[in-house]
Amino acid sequence: MKKTLFLLFICSLIACTNSVQLPNNGVLPQPQEIISDKGFFELSSSTSIISVEGQYGTVVSALNDGIKTRTGFLLPLGKKAKSNIVLLREDSSLPTEGYRLTVTPKQVICEASDNAGMFYSIQTLLQSIQTYEGKKVIPAMIVNDAPRYKWRGMMLDVARHFHNKETIKNLLDVMAYLKMNRFHWHLTDEDGWRIEIKKYPKLTREGAVGNWSDREADPKFFTQDDIREIVAYAQERHITIIPEIDMPGHASAASRAYPEISAGGKGRWAGFTFHPAKESTYQFLEDVLTEVAELFPGPYIHIGGDEVHFGNQVWFTDRQIQKFIKDNNLDDELGLEHYFLRRVSAIVNKLGKTSVGWDEMIASGISSENAVIMWWRHDKPEQLKKALSEGFKVIMTPRIPCYLDFVQHESQEIGRRWSGAFNPLATVYEFPKPVEPIITKKTDQILGVQGSVWTERMADTKRLYYMIFPRLVAISESAWSVESVKNYESFEERLKSFLSYLDAKGINYFNPFDVESTPEPWGPTKQDVIAEG
Ligand code: ACM
Repeated sequence: MKKTLFLLFICSLIACTNSVQLPNNGVLPQPQEIISDKGFFELSSSTSIISVEGQYGTVVSALNDGIKTRTGFLLPLGKKAKSNIVLLREDSSLPTEGYRLTVTPKQVICEASDNAGMFYSIQTLLQSIQTYEGKKVIPAMIVNDAPRYKWRGMMLDVARHFHNKETIKNLLDVMAYLKMNRFHWHLTDEDGWRIEIKKYPKLTREGAVGNWSDREADPKFFTQDDIREIVAYAQERHITIIPEIDMPGHASAASRAYPEISAGGKGRWAGFTFHPAKESTYQFLEDVLTEVAELFPGPYIHIGGDEVHFGNQVWFTDRQIQKFIKDNNLDDELGLEHYFLRRVSAIVNKLGKTSVGWDEMIASGISSENAVIMWWRHDKPEQLKKALSEGFKVIMTPRIPCYLDFVQHESQEIGRRWSGAFNPLATVYEFPKPVEPIITKKTDQILGVQGSVWTERMADTKRLYYMIFPRLVAISESAWSVESVKNYESFEERLKSFLSYLDAKGINYFNPFDVESTPEPWGPTKQDVIAEG
């Protein structure tokens, strides 16, 4: 009798504890819907993970690794435990990349119609783990979630300053945590060619020498094995990599290695472009793109197309180029630039990929069926309108507010400003609100949002991370969360736990809640990096 009473007393205590309603304010980006309930699911070392045989292999390991990091428990797989069960199963009525996460005191159920959705349900589950009265718990709730945009991207420029494999893997980890799924890898530019091409070894032997702050620096590049390793790492995290080989401009590194296929401008702009009137240039580019297409299984190759006019002065006087313009009825140098883009885009299509280009490409005459546009010139919203009216799919990464090489706080000296304007966290968070009137009528054509990291003034990892974080989190919410659930105060609250996650990963960041605590790292290029106008 005594024993029964004691047990009843214990049960009522458990019921009582499990009727509290715990807040869940840790999830980033904000899900579409969280329906909170009373009680919680308690994780323990005997909680079992059940999944359909053979399915979700990498998702299950991501879940188990994440739980181990947060709780210390390594959970048994496959065996149905008494009550505390994590179930993974499929519901084909859920949207692409979407999921439903149901947490009750007895079990957690993750449902999705594809592996990416299942992976994202795991991110939400892991971010929801909290400590309550010494226990590791997940608040009872139902989360119904799906992304606003298909393209939730980050671009990293490794040409101006090289950033290594470990850094890229760290960034891919954080992207996955934030449900971001496109890594645009800017692999070539004036300061360096960073991808090994077997057929043209001088591209890395000579083209990878130097960087933005040191013309003589040792060559730094990714071997094809490095690239395969990073591609596989990204695939496990449901991230597609989009390689960019910038052309016809920003080609100075390739020009140093193979001057015979280069043209360009004068002085600082010498060799800025590929030679647009030589057949050997197009053969070279086809060979390069063939190797690139084999390395990257994703559906896109980015061919740049930006800022050609900076360094194409030679085009106006070179006899071969002028004859080529005439022979091909191209009107002028701009016509030639467009011809070049059409021709290379067709090579990309022939290799089975869709080409992506900066917004200069809209005017090239490329069909909207075969190319995707990245809108970057924030001061030319008409480019966004034009791309949409011509039927292109568009990724939005306007300099303001999506370029993360602009400073993020008024106290910062290094990095870009535009007539005084820069990109504070709140402005990044607000995007795409300022352009909603342009995009709402064409929602199907907007692929998504991307943060772009140009690294002229980011010579080392500490400074790179400082510029990226925490603004990448705002980008992720702009890309994932529908406008109606976005709220800056809630975002700031949720950001605090994210900063602890960065601390645990050893990733540097700017702390918007305590500016003094994270002074701006100068990096080794202090003399060159004072803010430009
Ligand atoms: C760019 O910022 N030149 C695309």
